Amino acid sequence: MQITSFGVVGSGSMGNGIAQVAAQAGYDVTLFDISEVQLDKALATIQKSLAKLQEKGKLKEAPQEILGRLKKTIRLEDLKSCQFVVEAASENRDIKFKLFKDLDALLPQGAILATNTSSISVTEIASKTKRPELVAGMHFMNPVPLMTLVEGIRGLQTSDGCFKIVREVAETMGKVFVEAKDAPGFVVNRILIPMINESFFALAEGLASPKDIDTGLKLGCNFPMGPLELADFVGIDICLAVCEVLHRDLGDSKYRPAPLMRKYVEAGWLGRKTGKGVYVY
Ligand code: CAA
Repeated sequence: MQITSFGVVGSGSMGNGIAQVAAQAGYDVTLFDISEVQLDKALATIQKSLAKLQEKGKLKEAPQEILGRLKKTIRLEDLKSCQFVVEAASENRDIKFKLFKDLDALLPQGAILATNTSSISVTEIASKTKRPELVAGMHFMNPVPLMTLVEGIRGLQTSDGCFKIVREVAETMGKVFVEAKDAPGFVVNRILIPMINESFFALAEGLASPKDIDTGLKLGCNFPMGPLELADFVGIDICLAVCEVLHRDLGDSKYRPAPLMRKYVEAGWLGRKTGKGVYVY
């Protein structure tokens, strides 16, 4: 199947990054969000990112040409001719289930629906549609324009043909595709989030200062960011949500969220996006 029209649902940090990279890859992209304000913010973020990439000589075309392939909309119906849609809405089961039901009713026959969920069952999301064989997980990493990985997740019902196209689209977007089973947290978050969670336990125990915890992992393991810095970058609320899914769905107490991480979320200290998390921005 030759895919030309590409839809993205949700224009937060993941959605706008996915829309940008899809447009860079040559797809005609329609970016949907319920909020016009959020869409304008997303477009400004994309423009800034493209300018930075151009400055570094990493674009094949001028930003204006890439932006010319990108449309924004607050009407879900505007995705009705898309052959490939990636959903990157809030990490909330009910929101995703409703979106998949609505998109299924809207999209042309044969269109593929991918979800960027970081922890919800792809199999369960697919079951909300009448085309579960055409639903798969496509888990991008933050910041999408810079991170080269896409974790591909095959739901129980995903067809071989659909999964092959998902891989091809990811590769066309310049990403390296790894295949993970549809299990809580897939591969990356199954391993990354418990490490971030452990760093909050270490902080609560007073094992070391936040800076020393981060420097320890940065210099001791050659990580680009320490785990607490990364929690602020990803969003502490997101880390907590994934941790809760791992704990609930795997049923193992080793995944219990650190009480300090929960306290930060209760305080609204979610990281960079709120100006304060473990660090102040
Ligand atoms: N688009 C274009 N350029 C960008 C950019 C973007 N979105 N974000 C940053 N840059 C640029 C910066 O402007 C900067 O440019 P200069 O060199 O000209 O100053 C350059 O990239 C490097 O950025 P920084 O100097 O800020 O910092 P850095 O060298 O540490 O790189 C980073 C930034 C790539 C984010 C790096 O710190 C990193 O790899 N961090 C780890 C990220 C990570 O682990 N992501 C996965 C999170 S988990 C996840 O996403 C899954 C989930 O479900 C939770």
